[in-house]
Amino acid sequence: MIMVRTLVGALGSAVDSTVTVKGWVHTLRLQSRVQFVVVRDHTGMVQVTHRRGGDGDRLDELLRGLTPESAVEITGKVVANPIVKLGGLEIVPERVEVVSAAEPGLPIDAGTGPEQRLNWRFLDLRRPERRLVFEVQTTVEQAMREVAAEEGCTELHTPKLMGTPSESGAEVFRVGYFDRTAYLAQSPQFYKQMAIAAGIDRVFEIGPVFRAEPSFTSRHATEFTGVDVELAWIDTVEDVMSFLERMLHRVLERVAERHGEQIEQHGGARVVVPELPFPRLTMAQATAKLRAAGWDQEGLREDLDPEGERLLCALVAEEYGHEFVFVTRFPASVRPFYHRRPADDPSVTDSFDLLWKGVEITTGAQREHRHGQLVAQAREKGMDASPEGPLGRYLDCFRYGMPPHGGFGLGLGRVLMLALGLPSIRDAVFLFRGPNRLEP
Ligand code: 4AD
Ligand code: MG
Repeated sequence: MIMVRTLVGALGSAVDSTVTVKGWVHTLRLQSRVQFVVVRDHTGMVQVTHRRGGDGDRLDELLRGLTPESAVEITGKVVANPIVKLGGLEIVPERVEVVSAAEPGLPIDAGTGPEQRLNWRFLDLRRPERRLVFEVQTTVEQAMREVAAEEGCTELHTPKLMGTPSESGAEVFRVGYFDRTAYLAQSPQFYKQMAIAAGIDRVFEIGPVFRAEPSFTSRHATEFTGVDVELAWIDTVEDVMSFLERMLHRVLERVAERHGEQIEQHGGARVVVPELPFPRLTMAQATAKLRAAGWDQEGLREDLDPEGERLLCALVAEEYGHEFVFVTRFPASVRPFYHRRPADDPSVTDSFDLLWKGVEITTGAQREHRHGQLVAQAREKGMDASPEGPLGRYLDCFRYGMPPHGGFGLGLGRVLMLALGLPSIRDAVFLFRGPNRLEP
């Protein structure tokens, strides 16, 4: 028999009618006189209350045989009952169907550690608060696409299998490719620039990124979702930064509006819609601020480390009352060869990192679009810039009219982790991939 499904969230308007709910057994409380089953679907939870009828009570038998997390369909009358905690209603069952029984003894419970939870991720995600991140993700991606389209971007999907590494030789995964080796894209960097050379004025991509980084931090994955933008005919890197700001402003506006309350309910911080413009500090200003606060007293570091990122965000929050900060003009020594260097100081780059709540979420830059200068910068980094070398096809893009351009790459998992206040990127993705995790 096919029963029309009523979502638990809609039961409020079904009082006194007979409905069928379809979901999982959340909890079971079988007492001598009354049996309570809480059924959960993706819209909420409802109490099913059965008064035991003694011998020959079919429902009684069925309910006693239930196990937590079994998939069930329960048909019954919706009754208003103010003493019931779940929305002041309950279902008095007439028919219970176990469509798929859960084996007794679940492999995880509320006290299970993170690794075991990941082993059983599909069960872990049965908890509504763990699934919230995907609802937020849907909103985030929608808002990003919306802004990208408004700003004139074309959405692309660049290949993830490549004949040569996309950023550097380190951190690249090699895969067997017929009788040769292929590389998994570490970023769409070279292809989005190729799209600029192809006359696609503004490029937007959301896609997988692979990094063979043996990092075990809370913000590193070996496969993650990257949001990439590349803009042609920019005047300065500021055009890229203001685009990114507008995008994040829209994103957080939507997240606050649609999920702010739930995020707070589940232990996250209040979602703050950031004011524009975000604070901007050059790397020199940032390091001065940091050193004054005790970071890197020897003055050896040219790049921000995680500790520096955290401290800088704390200082900026105090001084400007802002959760974000752009750090600009990174030294050329710590940036890739394709970052443009400003005319007034070739020791730095027209690049930026965007930090949010102590974590880098974006790296971006104006690119060097002049072929000769680009080749010189690659050589300076010790790279083979010959036409037959691994960069040959990339460098060709700069030989037949390349407009000035710039863009950024943003890590989606990091944004979600920070937006929801999750302890790790592992909780911000459906299935985490790390150096020790290829399963499930
Ligand atoms: O900073 P990254 O390495 O920059 C690039 O890929 C450049 N091609 C971007 C550009 O257009 N200039 O990566 C971009 C972002 C980082 O800021 C971070 O948010 C995220 O990607 N990211 C990671 N996220 C999770 N796990 C990892 N291992 C990540 N590595 C980078
Ligand atoms: Mg970076």
